Amino acid sequence: MLYVTKGGQLLNIVRAEKAGFCFGVERAIELAEKTSASGNTVSLGPLIHNQQVVDYLKEKGIKVADSLEEVKKGQQLVIRSHGVPPFIYNEARDKGINIVDATCPFVQKAQKLAAKSSKDNFVIVVGDGDHPEIKGILGWAGKNSRAVETLEEAKQLPHYSSLAVLAQTTQAKNNFLKIVEELKSHTDNLVVHNTICNATSERQDSARKVAKEVSVMLVVGGRNSSNTRKLGTICSEETKTYLIETADELQQNWFDDVENVGLTAGASTPDWIIEEVFIKCQKLLKMKI
Ligand code: F3S
Repeated sequence: MLYVTKGGQLLNIVRAEKAGFCFGVERAIELAEKTSASGNTVSLGPLIHNQQVVDYLKEKGIKVADSLEEVKKGQQLVIRSHGVPPFIYNEARDKGINIVDATCPFVQKAQKLAAKSSKDNFVIVVGDGDHPEIKGILGWAGKNSRAVETLEEAKQLPHYSSLAVLAQTTQAKNNFLKIVEELKSHTDNLVVHNTICNATSERQDSARKVAKEVSVMLVVGGRNSSNTRKLGTICSEETKTYLIETADELQQNWFDDVENVGLTAGASTPDWIIEEVFIKCQKLLKMKI
């Protein structure tokens, strides 16, 4: 926390206790960097949803392939923390591609639960069906599965003899619990696997805590990062919130008539970007005095 004095008043920058890189993202970047030392490394899709980090990895020689067709025999293929459906492993092995699996262990756990649950249940994964993590988990569950993102969608579901429900690891807890409640009236047998990652709920809880205390909240992270956007939604329920990718986007007029500013960041935002935002924010607040 920083105090800047304005005529005896305090201007605070309150940082969320838990913010920035999570264990799974850190692990994926480390694995990719280590692999790149032997050259010829490709990630399937951008390694994380943060353009600045993707640019940094590119400098280290880690290329991005949009599909397996672009990856050649003998190349090292890094599977990112979101994971992939099983057919990707099979096709990559058939092509003679070396797999470096950086799937986050928490995502792997959700994949295994999905595969196991689908033997006796229809599987619902609460989350964004277009997100790669959900596509991967649904791939492990097979055709007896689907994604449901909102309570309204859940209300439209038919009746199932037996249902298993899981969550995208970055789901907002409230949304997951509301959908679980709704699903109880769509089946006689509901198995609930709360696969929300601790890192996500910790970041969401500490972002909300800070947002309740401040007049403006800054959420730092990639605009295409699902967990960053969710942090933004949570914070905007409590206070005026700006989602930014870098310090360059900060604007002086956001801090007019503001006594304190909160700062948090998505799980794919590196410390150096958070620090840059913090320092620029300090400067802008000082300019107000
Ligand atoms: Fe893994 Fe949780 Fe991060 S699932 S990738 S540690 S948000």
